[in-house]
Amino acid sequence: MSPTDLPAPADDVPVGPIAPPPAAGPPPLDGEDVLLTVRGLRKSFGATEVLRSVDLTVDRGRVLALIGPSGSGKTTVLRCLNGLEVPDGGTIAIGSTGDDVALDFAARPSRRALAALRDRSAMVFQHYNLFPHKTVLENVTEGPRVVQRRPAAEVRAEALALLERVGLAEKADAYPFQLSGGQQQRVGIVRALALRPQLLLFDEPTSALDPELVGDVLGLIRELALEGWTMVIVTHELQFAREVAHEVAFVDGGRIVEHGDAERVLRDPQHERTRQFVHRLLHPF
Ligand SMILES: Nc1ncnc2c1ncn2[C@@H]1O[C@H](COP(=O)(O)OP(=O)(O)OP(=O)(O)O)[C@@H](O)[C@H]1O
Ligand SMILES: [Mg+2]
Repeated sequence: MSPTDLPAPADDVPVGPIAPPPAAGPPPLDGEDVLLTVRGLRKSFGATEVLRSVDLTVDRGRVLALIGPSGSGKTTVLRCLNGLEVPDGGTIAIGSTGDDVALDFAARPSRRALAALRDRSAMVFQHYNLFPHKTVLENVTEGPRVVQRRPAAEVRAEALALLERVGLAEKADAYPFQLSGGQQQRVGIVRALALRPQLLLFDEPTSALDPELVGDVLGLIRELALEGWTMVIVTHELQFAREVAHEVAFVDGGRIVEHGDAERVLRDPQHERTRQFVHRLLHPF
């Protein structure tokens, strides 16, 4: 069964033409097809050591939820994966064996190597980060056209198909300020998909949204998971993490304290810090 044979989720986000998913076929067995490997990742800002030693592995077609307290380094991990920050040490490899981009930050990587790493992933930001002076379509086509230098007509057609898919075709010529937060975030997701990444990174994609707009965005992310996209999602929505993520990693003090099956980590955390954190999120009062 191919990922697109899966039944469409019951959600009100319209399903139209679909971007080619990065992986065809059923999800791999554990360890069979590793897409992301992070080892000993370190990052400091001035004297502040933010990532002390982060280790992560994500198999192709799997969804990893990153949870953890404020300031623990979750956003910094995503920004390092996406090349928005350059780590001080450690390694990041994205891709299949033989076709992977592997960078060792102990040796200062070249610009070209960093660009190759950046090209493998795409990020969806908490505050959408759309260009305010560009239309929706321009926001989506900018990266593929200017950075990836793909043909304009092909990029435009693919962008319109993706916008159609998320129910925003008629907003192609609108500006971000004319859209609701939920619509802006769906544009943010389309912009990421248009880059044809191997790995999708989400940084608290619904935390800036009004509660009634959260469902549409989570519904779209759920669809992408069913299609077989490999994703790392920073979220405080534990119910969503339990439902959509295969694995959960708990970050604390710049390290991965616990990483395992989503249901297991959320139901029966092994570490006291994870236990306290999960308990507090599930029982805030
Ligand atoms: N560009 C920067 N310059 C200086 N310090 C930074 C920078 N980016 C992050 N930090 C610091 O690094 C630490 C980790 O930040 P990060 O944003 O990764 O945490 P987080 O886990 O995403 O937190 P939150 O849940 O609040 O989003 C924080 O103490 C933060 O102040
Ligand atoms: Mg953050």
